Amino acid sequence: MESELQQLKEQAEEALQNINNDQELESFRIQYLGRKGGVITGLMRRLSSVDKADRPRFGALANSLKNEIEQLFEQKKNALGAGLSTKGASDIDTSLPGRFLPFGKLHPITQVMEEICSIFESLGFAVAEGPDVETDYYNFEALNIPPHHPARDMHDTFYVTDSILLRTHTSPMQARIMEKQDPPLRYIAPGKVYRCDSDITHTPMFHQVEGFLVDKQVSFADLKGVLTSFTHHMFEKELALRFRPSFFPFTEPSAEVDIACVICEGKGCRVCKKTGWLEILGSGLIDPEVMRMVGYDPDVYSGFAFGLGVERIAMLKYGIDDIRLYYENDLRFLSQF
Ligand code: PHE
Repeated sequence: MESELQQLKEQAEEALQNINNDQELESFRIQYLGRKGGVITGLMRRLSSVDKADRPRFGALANSLKNEIEQLFEQKKNALGAGLSTKGASDIDTSLPGRFLPFGKLHPITQVMEEICSIFESLGFAVAEGPDVETDYYNFEALNIPPHHPARDMHDTFYVTDSILLRTHTSPMQARIMEKQDPPLRYIAPGKVYRCDSDITHTPMFHQVEGFLVDKQVSFADLKGVLTSFTHHMFEKELALRFRPSFFPFTEPSAEVDIACVICEGKGCRVCKKTGWLEILGSGLIDPEVMRMVGYDPDVYSGFAFGLGVERIAMLKYGIDDIRLYYENDLRFLSQF
């Protein structure tokens, strides 16, 4: 038995010595170490037919032979690998120009978000960011949306627990900032928001920029002035604005704002569905109840707020008709921006 193992070891050593390339090494591996029909595997299988008394000794010998052959195999493999790469070195043409590595770019949504922020910063707004995982209090209650208020149905909320959720809009930042600071204040709050919704105009995660201003004697005219200035800068065209009465629990009065269609400038086309107008944001004067909850006196202060959808603005600016393109990570799409 022992002499058989010794013989096998010598055979393997000799075979390895004569190996000069990867194919030969591979057939060696199959012959000796292969799982099916390999010499070593066969040896292990025979273990059960060996005399019970001899079995442990035979087993130990067979195992150490297996380890030795595996080790020799690895050594040969490394030697072959090293040999090949030194041979290859002479083939490298060091005078060839280097390979071009393309530069990455900011995602179109990030670019548009930065552009929106810089326009509002030029109008004197400061930028603030808040958490994506928000409490029910800031996302709803502080915004005058108590439990069971029907307005909650519009939000398609992703809940984490009963009182923690993924924010459905950036408006919680109004309450978070106002409760910490006294007027006058002028802020924008950009960020991700989440709603359980998905089709060609909705993705479960999208971006909003919230804006709000609180001071004495702030009126709808101020809101209109700021938004008009923003639109003209953003679309590089003097597009008309239209305020449509609407409802949000945290603004009173509330309005949705349309801009004249960026494609047909109001004549009516496919993009604006022949209406000549495109909705870009929700807005209003901050509800006195929201002011009271953060400790402001609504008889002294007033303010406006608006929330705009970044994907929507980017779609209009670049003429994109399917919101999902932003999130497919297709470089042919992304490299155009
Ligand atoms: N938060 C509202 C939404 O997501 C938009 C909004 C913001 C409306 C601020 C009024 C004032 O639909």
